[in-house]
Amino acid sequence: MPDSRLATLQAEHIQHLQTAYADILNQQGYDAVLISSGAAPMRYADDQAHHHQGYGHFLHWVGLSDLEHSWLLVEKDGRVRLWLHTPVDFWHAVTPIPAEGWTRLIEVTGQAGIDAPDITYPERLAVIGDPAQISGAPGDANPPSLLAALDSLRVIKTAYEVACIDQASAIAARGHNAARDAFLAGASEFGINLAYQQATGQRETQAPYHSIIGLNQHAGTLHYQHYDLQAPHRPRSLLIDAGVRYRGYCSDITRTTAAPGENRFGALIAGLESLQKRLCDAVAPGVDYIELHQRAHLGLAALLKASELVQDIDDAGMVEKGITRAFFPHGLGHFLGIQVHDVAGKPRPAPEHAPFLRLTHSLKPGMVVTIEPGLYFIPSLLDPLLESTDRRYLNRPLIDDLRGCGGIRIEDNVLVTEAGARNLTRTHLPV
Ligand code: GLY
Ligand code: MN
Ligand code: MN
Repeated sequence: MPDSRLATLQAEHIQHLQTAYADILNQQGYDAVLISSGAAPMRYADDQAHHHQGYGHFLHWVGLSDLEHSWLLVEKDGRVRLWLHTPVDFWHAVTPIPAEGWTRLIEVTGQAGIDAPDITYPERLAVIGDPAQISGAPGDANPPSLLAALDSLRVIKTAYEVACIDQASAIAARGHNAARDAFLAGASEFGINLAYQQATGQRETQAPYHSIIGLNQHAGTLHYQHYDLQAPHRPRSLLIDAGVRYRGYCSDITRTTAAPGENRFGALIAGLESLQKRLCDAVAPGVDYIELHQRAHLGLAALLKASELVQDIDDAGMVEKGITRAFFPHGLGHFLGIQVHDVAGKPRPAPEHAPFLRLTHSLKPGMVVTIEPGLYFIPSLLDPLLESTDRRYLNRPLIDDLRGCGGIRIEDNVLVTEAGARNLTRTHLPV
């Protein structure tokens, strides 16, 4: 998308926030809200800081995820001011005052200090952000009902936000292609991570979450956090779950690849991908996400049977007995936006049968969700099942053979539209 079009969409996004914040401030009985960017805390007993990625409600307005010690004041008459931290500092680079079009809507001033700006504030003031950063600031600190209203505002994305998530997906797609090529060329987890970073032009600390890169059985650890420096003697599989942050907005994409010759595991990936695509196609306004999660379990039951991993039980019975949960323990997906697991996903609690489900809405146009079914060989979940009376349904030799491939997850980012859905990932990464 040309920069000028993105700038127009950003101006419309800010104008939408001005109106929406005015309504929320009126409803909540405030004249203004002061929003802290936050700042990275120091490591304990050290002179080094943790990495910073910005407070969500701050990023909603300005998208500058690396700003620290900066403040935004939103008044209910629509006036918005940003105090950008511009210290005199010869150790670090200081963020210059941006010259982009959005500064016509948000007044930007430099401020050397880190405290809330020393101005006369409107009478009824709220201040929101990391409690450690706002403790000395004026106003009611983090009022829960105001925070809930601002979280809800982030559920329906503007055209600007969708364009940013789409671009985050486009950049991540380059990284996923490079990661697959690196795997097929024999790279280690560490080497695949380097290939991903090189192709996306993104440092690890800027990524919306730690890239999950697992070879062989590591693919079965849902949020595997290490990178082996050496490739395994016999590479069998790669699972990479990695995204990109673009102008504050995240992508969250997973692909699984079988090594050449891993035909059985490759067929299982193809089966899960076919289910994943059907689930993406089923995304539409009015769809209950909890029901979609259940549909994923029924689809997984059919796949487990077709691949002969589970036998002699019908699909509904397999789900009912919790057998599919041993293979697919996490939720089908979540909201995606400024945070990878974006806010306000659970207007009702997750049901007992899906305790890790992060999204319980009925879908509406403008929501962006992930669709990420999985099929894993996780010893701590499968071994008790293999010891239980339900072991008679399980094909132990086949499970034992595929354990070494770890597992499969396939994850796309999907926009709910008036007519149905738009897959923001497959347009850039068809496989
Ligand atoms: N990357 C974490 C997740 O898919 O939820
Ligand atoms: Mn996800
Ligand atoms: Mn993911």
